[in-house]
Parts: sequence; C-alpha cells; structure tokens
Amino acid sequence: MRVLVTGGAGFIGTQIVDALLARGHDVVSYDVLLPSAHSGPPRAARPGEELVVADVRDGTAVAEALRGVDAVCHQAAMVGLGKDFADAPEYVGCNDLGTAVLLAAMAGAGVRELVLAGSMVVYGEGRYECARHGVVRPAPRHEADLAAGRFEPGCPLCGAALTPGLVTEDAPADPRNVYAATKLAQEHLGAAWSRATGGRTVSLRYHNVYGPGMPRDTPYAGVASLFRSALARGEAPRVFEDGGQRRDFVHVRDVAEAAALALEAAHGLAAGSFTAYNTGSGDPRTVGDMARALAHAYGGPPPITTGEYRLGDVRHVTADSSRLRRELGWKPQVEFEAGMREFARAELR
Ligand SMILES: NC(=O)c1ccc[n+]([C@@H]2O[C@H](COP(=O)([O-])OP(=O)(O)OC[C@H]3O[C@@H](n4cnc5c(N)ncnc54)[C@H](O)[C@@H]3O)[C@@H](O)[C@H]2O)c1
Ligand SMILES: [Zn+2]
Repeated sequence: MRVLVTGGAGFIGTQIVDALLARGHDVVSYDVLLPSAHSGPPRAARPGEELVVADVRDGTAVAEALRGVDAVCHQAAMVGLGKDFADAPEYVGCNDLGTAVLLAAMAGAGVRELVLAGSMVVYGEGRYECARHGVVRPAPRHEADLAAGRFEPGCPLCGAALTPGLVTEDAPADPRNVYAATKLAQEHLGAAWSRATGGRTVSLRYHNVYGPGMPRDTPYAGVASLFRSALARGEAPRVFEDGGQRRDFVHVRDVAEAAALALEAAHGLAAGSFTAYNTGSGDPRTVGDMARALAHAYGGPPPITTGEYRLGDVRHVTADSSRLRRELGWKPQVEFEAGMREFARAELR
C-alpha cells in the first residue's frame, strides 16, 4: 500500500518510514522541518521514499501529496511542553488546524484510513487507588505542595496516600497542558472525520518514546533526550521532583512497528470507527531509574535529584497496553536495559 507519513522526517516518523519500507510499502513523507525539532540538517530521503517539505496546514500541498495514497499515518505535531503559554497558538495551529486541514483533504481524496500519533498525555494523571475509596482521580497538584516537596497526589476524598496503577483506554480524558489539549483534540477530530466519511481512525497513544534520532535538548524534547544531552555535555542528568515519577519508556522501533501493524489492520476495522490503543512497553520505571540506567550505560556522572518541578507535569502515568498486543498482535522487542544501552551511544538529532 502507499502511505503518507506526516512528520516523516521527525524522530518517530523516520522510524515509521523505515518500518513501512522494510515491509514493502510505498511511502510519501511530508514534513515542514520545524526549526524547534530540526536544529541540524534533515535526514536524507530513503531509497523508495518521496520526501515532501511542506506544512500540514497547506491544504493544496496536502491534496497533492495524497494522490494515489491508501492510508495516512499522521505524526506531524509540535511536541513537548514548550517554553510558555505564548506557544499555545502555534501548538494549536500545527496540531489541530493541521489535523483538520489534513482530514478535509483526505475526505476530498477518498482516503479512509488514518493512524494517528496519540499520546498518554490525554489521560492527565494515571490510575490511582485509595485503600478506602477505590479508584479515584486526583486533581492537578498545587504549586505550594510541589514547592514543599509533596509530590505524591493524595486521595481527593480523604487525602490518604494512593497506589498508582495502569491506565486503560476507557479512562476519562483529562489533558493538563496545551500540548495535551491539542493531542486530545486530534483524536476528537479523527473520530468526527471517521463518522462523517465512513473512515477508520486508529490512535496509538504512545507512552514516553525514546531511542536513536531523538531531538536534542530543547524545551520541546522529552526527558530521555534532556538526560542524554546533559551526559553528552559531561554533566549529570538533573532529575526533577524526587525522581519517583513513574513512566513507561517505550523504544521508537517498537512504536514504529505498532504504527505499521495499525496501518495494515485499519482496512479491516468498521467504517466510521475510532479505536485507541495505549502503546507502552508494559515495563514501568521511574524517571530516576531511567536517569541512573542511562548515566550508567553512558559512563557519565550519576544523576542529581533537584526537587525542581514543572506545573502541568503529572506524577505517575503508566499504560496498560494489552489491548494493542491482543488485537493487533504487537509485541515490543526492545527491553529497557538494552534500549538504554543503545540510546546512551546513539546519535541525537
Ligand atoms: N516522542 C514521544 O515520546 C511522543 C509521545 C507521545 C506522542 N508523540 C507524538 O508522536 C508524533 C511524533 O513526535 P516525535 O517525538 O517524532 O517529534 P518530532 O518533533 O521529532 O517529529 C514531529 C515532526 O512533525 C513535523 N511537523 C510539526 N509541525 C508540522 C506542520 N505544521 N507541518 C508539517 N510537519 C510538521 C516536525 O518538523 C517534525 O519533523 C507527534 O504527533 C507527537 O505528538 C510523541
Ligand atoms: Zn480516599
């Protein structure tokens, strides 16, 4: 099949392109090479790949790129927490207006299959249980608590300590920052497009993706990249809060494989459908553990836990990705220690 991969020059998009080419598909990559994500020169086009440099908000260019395409893998987005709220219009522009323009062009071109780069950020805080009240949803943490080093959210009903668990796809959405709001809106737009056109949307809600080709050190980069960049400068990774934040670090090649499987399966899904899949390794770690594993593998100074915090960060969020394994036959291949060893040596972008 012929697949349009938006954001195809990005960290995850590049690996998706490689996975699709390896499986014998034709690929058109489409990427505006956002300066915040591309400090260096873009990668070269792969043999058999057509690489279009344009913005997803450019409906004419998107329509052109969609010619002969069977399915779209939409990875283009502005990522990360950004610098401050002044970034909000650009996040909404790239992520939501961009998605709307893409979907309108797909509607016009008769393309009915969409695999979307979703995100765990749509959930806000993960799943928590109180011994007395069962499953509860903690509110955003107060700055005064964070400043005082009280990082664990308490039970919203009794204040007791909570036990974090695994979030499933049916958990209510609770986006906690601009980026998260735009990722949730992308899903809603995909679902509306499916209903209106008889299309099929699959959202892969990626967890913390890491691996070769991650963008380096910018306010838009993920935590693994920030730690890796610090090590490359000869500095210790600086771990925020007390390092106990739980995440699921999933390798970029495993994510690319999930995207390829979803693209191949999309045709068999019901017309008008929207399906979300958590996409995580199933092997949760703390941010502190990740920093230690990476520093050790790099042979650099051990991490420093700073007690700093960012408003809008959640304490724990870890996914139950069994649905993706069960329904699409996905099986992540890269285990945590081996992945970190490779990442310690890998080139960033
Ligand atoms: N990296 C993660 O841990 C993670 C986690 C959850 C979801 N995601 C999602 O995965 C997708 C890929 O992210 P990534 O980590 O590879 O980031 P990235 O920045 O490396 O890749 C995104 C690409 O999209 C391009 N892009 C942005 N705005 C565009 C526009 N308006 N028009 C055309 N191209 C545009 C950028 O130039 C970049 O190459 C994003 O949708 C992101 O929200 C990433
Ligand atoms: Zn309680």
